[in-house]
Amino acid sequence: MSHNPRLRHPKFREKLMSAEDAAMLIAPGAVIGMSGFTGSGYPKAVPQALAKRIEDEHAAGRPFKVSIWTGASTGPELDGALAKADGIEFRLPYNSDPIARERINSGQMQYFDMHLSQVAPMAWMGFLGKLDTAVIEISGVTEDGALIPSSSIGNNKTWLEQADKIILEVNRWQSDALDGMHDIYYGTALPPHRVPIPLIKPDDRIGQAHFNVDPDKIVAVVETDGPDRNAPFSPPDAVAEAIAAHIIDFLENEVKQGRIPRGLLPLQSGVGNVPNAVMAGLIEAPFDQMTAFTEVIQDGMLDMIEAGSLRMASATAFSLSPEKAEYFNDNAQFFRDKLIMRPQEISNHPELVRRLGCIAMNGLIEADIYGNVNSTQVMGSRIQNGIGGSGDFARNGYVSIFMTPSVAKGGKISAIVPMAAHVDHIAQDVQVIVTEQGLADLRGLSPRQRAEKIITNCAHPAYRDMLRDYYERAKKGSFGGHAPNLLGEALSWHERFVQSRSMLPD
Ligand code: COA
Repeated sequence: MSHNPRLRHPKFREKLMSAEDAAMLIAPGAVIGMSGFTGSGYPKAVPQALAKRIEDEHAAGRPFKVSIWTGASTGPELDGALAKADGIEFRLPYNSDPIARERINSGQMQYFDMHLSQVAPMAWMGFLGKLDTAVIEISGVTEDGALIPSSSIGNNKTWLEQADKIILEVNRWQSDALDGMHDIYYGTALPPHRVPIPLIKPDDRIGQAHFNVDPDKIVAVVETDGPDRNAPFSPPDAVAEAIAAHIIDFLENEVKQGRIPRGLLPLQSGVGNVPNAVMAGLIEAPFDQMTAFTEVIQDGMLDMIEAGSLRMASATAFSLSPEKAEYFNDNAQFFRDKLIMRPQEISNHPELVRRLGCIAMNGLIEADIYGNVNSTQVMGSRIQNGIGGSGDFARNGYVSIFMTPSVAKGGKISAIVPMAAHVDHIAQDVQVIVTEQGLADLRGLSPRQRAEKIITNCAHPAYRDMLRDYYERAKKGSFGGHAPNLLGEALSWHERFVQSRSMLPD
């Protein structure tokens, strides 16, 4: 019998077993709800043991695939291992693992890319089918048999409630000080029984610190001691710094105009290096007592809290570089009363994002001259990651900012194109576009006014004249229009890239 001090209820100790034995409890074809959100709080051992089992079954000529639902992206031990074993039939709601991405893009894995706020409600509505098993990382079990969450919440509450059987991983690496940082709201319901969510400020606590669980559903408890694995952030380069500077100028002007208070409004910052650089830039900016109501807590936010510029942050997960994750664990006592982690249906809830008036800041793959944004599909076809929470925040935020370097792949791709080859965020949800070249404030502008601004302020010089030429000819085209386009040519830049690996003409 283990003396793991994190398992403070005897019933859970009785279910201790190895990851390999726990993986044997998963049947071929199972639908599994796993914990995990941007490389934090995902189960570290059972998915790898399951991947090994799947490889063995495949070697013996027996098909074995499962469906995986999570909070968002996970780590290489989960998505990477299972995708490599060719073990994932279906995946939702978000993926950034390169092996899984390749399987999706080759058609071997089905992927449902969806708004992160909608995962739990859709599961409750029955739209996604039946959940068989939950595999959830926790940081401990209380004397009363409640579960202490780990470094992400995601959809764990829903998986624990909906699955027929539950496998828990208790990870010793997670800080003890996480206990008390979570706020699990049990008041959501389906129409016609929905009520307002009683959250008025980002720091309101409306739920409880632990997950409820039916102990009879627990079939295995596995002990682990492994770090979360997020990709490191690259230090902000000149491009990221220029983008951050444009955004900070814009926010300063909004404050000056009296449209946003001095402490700003709750910040939402998307994933990636550029949003992280914006956070770094905000440390020096003249705003006081800022708050964040966002999806993930990145390195830059911890720095802002330490610098005293950010008062608190509400999110559903950490998304820290490996060094910062160790740093957080060593200093968790300092941070614990300044951070609140909530289920993603709450952290990303459109009702709350609208009520709080979040300043939404997200990355994009490409934007067209009228301000429609593609966040997900390279050349209109290949999935990069997924829409994640960008739609939850962009449509409902007080101001919706999208940012990107003006070119990708060493200048071979323009991020500003005549027509986006796929659209995640329609022009009505895109209020500001920023590149290192400049910022286009699109609020209150017609499509033709937007085109002028986006081409002039945001396009890279190598593509600016080409965009202007397209737009001028489109305006003179025989069909005219509110947002003029030349249909035969609108996607020719993408076609040129697919054929010759460059959007630039020879
Ligand atoms: N065409 C082709 N590839 C492009 C591209 C374009 N127009 N723009 C970017 N890329 C590629 C980059 O080259 C890079 O590829 P690599 O990994 O092979 O080097 C990759 O996309 C990431 O781009 P990068 O410039 O490093 O930006 P990022 O890390 O800020 O990510 C998104 C940008 C759009 C992919 C990312 O923000 C995302 O997934 N957004 C959707 C989800 C989201 O917004 N979540 C937050 C909500 S809370």
